[in-house]
Amino acid sequence: MENKAYENLIFEERDNVAMIILNRPQKLNALNTEVLKELEAVINKIKVEGSTRAIVITGSGEKAFAAGADIGEINKLDSLKAKKFSEYGQKVFSMLEECGIPVIAAVNGYALGGGCELALACHIRLASETAKFGQPEVKLGLIPGYGGTQRLARLTGTGRGIELLLTGETIDAQEALRIGLVNRIYQKDELLIRANELAIMIASQPREAVALILQSVLMINKCGLKAGLEFEAGSFGVCCSTNDFKEGTAAFMEKRNPKFTHS
Ligand code: COA
Repeated sequence: MENKAYENLIFEERDNVAMIILNRPQKLNALNTEVLKELEAVINKIKVEGSTRAIVITGSGEKAFAAGADIGEINKLDSLKAKKFSEYGQKVFSMLEECGIPVIAAVNGYALGGGCELALACHIRLASETAKFGQPEVKLGLIPGYGGTQRLARLTGTGRGIELLLTGETIDAQEALRIGLVNRIYQKDELLIRANELAIMIASQPREAVALILQSVLMINKCGLKAGLEFEAGSFGVCCSTNDFKEGTAAFMEKRNPKFTHS
């Protein structure tokens, strides 16, 4: 069902899968403050309503996922405002990363600057063969401000990450696949179909186990191995108290398919 409450996003939810479409195609879906505010509102809505079990994010139009933070807006910032601008974008992207629901970026064109950083904050990245990635901020006398210096280098390794950050180079989907920036490439017309199929598949998995897998993996970025393993063991224990755990293990023993209730 499409929700018309947003000016810069299209939000739809079907079969427990939410679709968020960045919708400023005339500006290649550049992320201005209004887009970020609407993204924050959508994430809060999803969390409060509780029906969503997977999220797909993509860009509207033929050309872009998102071509970056809005340069027209950045151009007017002084140091203090720029720091707050960066902190706000970081906050919204971290909310997405930590919302406990798997988020799939379906990158359908340019994912530059803040657009690449948004894809990096998603849990899984799928790309069309026309997708292009890069952190061109250095060419504007800037650095990435929405988490790119952290998440890119963590994902690709510091060697390749630093090279991309220092050159501002734009890479195509094949190169993004090679360095681990995306998981899979699809033809342009296939991308959203495949992203949706993956989202539906993941949405059918037991909700608590899915949320705790995400949280446990994100601990990699927050703490050392010892604390991460402690968190994993605690989460493993929590899973064992759910109905879906009882159903999943009973179904295995009884040689039948499980019927999960997400409880
Ligand atoms: N912020 C604000 N507006 C942007 C934008 C951004 N990051 N990226 C694109 N736009 C706007 C352009 O200004 C243009 O608007 P106009 O038609 O009102 O002039 C419109 O989107 C189309 O972009 P255009 O540059 O004409 O398209 P193109 O196909 O020639 O080039 C790109 C595409 C992506 C290569 C080019 O738009 C670009 O380099 N964008 C900036 C990328 C960037 O540096 N991002 C990091 C920002 S920190």
